[in-house]
Amino acid sequence: MEERYLTFALGKGRLANTTLDLFEKLGITMTEMKDKSTRKLIFVNEELKLKFFLAKGPDVPTYVEYGAADIGVVGKDTIMEENRRVFEVLDLGFGKCRMCVCGPASAKELLQHHERIRVASKYPMIAKDYFYNKKHQTVDIIKLNGSVELGPIVGLSDVIVDIVETGSTLKENGLEVLEEICPLSARMIVNQVSMRMEYDRINKLIHDLKGVL
Ligand code: PRP
Repeated sequence: MEERYLTFALGKGRLANTTLDLFEKLGITMTEMKDKSTRKLIFVNEELKLKFFLAKGPDVPTYVEYGAADIGVVGKDTIMEENRRVFEVLDLGFGKCRMCVCGPASAKELLQHHERIRVASKYPMIAKDYFYNKKHQTVDIIKLNGSVELGPIVGLSDVIVDIVETGSTLKENGLEVLEEICPLSARMIVNQVSMRMEYDRINKLIHDLKGVL
């Protein structure tokens, strides 16, 4: 029987490039995909029966849940925010950063006293889970789409829930980490049916990746 293609969804951008470098170490090359000028979205490796496509990060868990991709590589932040029915099988170790509650130093008190505050975030589900379920604090969550640090600066919110990598964005805007929610990094996720149907191939891939990480 002809082997079926194993399909990978990669979050566009830095994560995709690092993922391709990692796969290269296993002899899986996708040269065409690394060409920055290409507008192509899907790439096939006929020899290994693999397909790779690029998607917006938050859509990666969606493709994997519905089986349009067997495997996805995406940040833990996106996995938590999207909360899709997929298996998270491997921490790829790159793209390390932290999900944090940040704001001006003066907002520290508001967090300690469990006041009803405004929280701006690109990650409303993560923010809600953290404040409601972990801290048992009722807050108003305001969804933003980027440059979230503006929230406390322009008076939209008291604090933000956002990714902190080097901390320089916070520092340059007079904000700081007030509480740490969790560490983040790139993860490999797998469709629940694919995990059973393609167990040998996927398991070998996980094993090989562990060897080069
Ligand atoms: C992310 C994040 C912070 C910044 C953190 O934003 O939302 O703003 O990077 O990095 P740092 O701690 O190294 O400064 P991104 O650049 O993805 O853009 P966005 O603000 O549009 O989300």
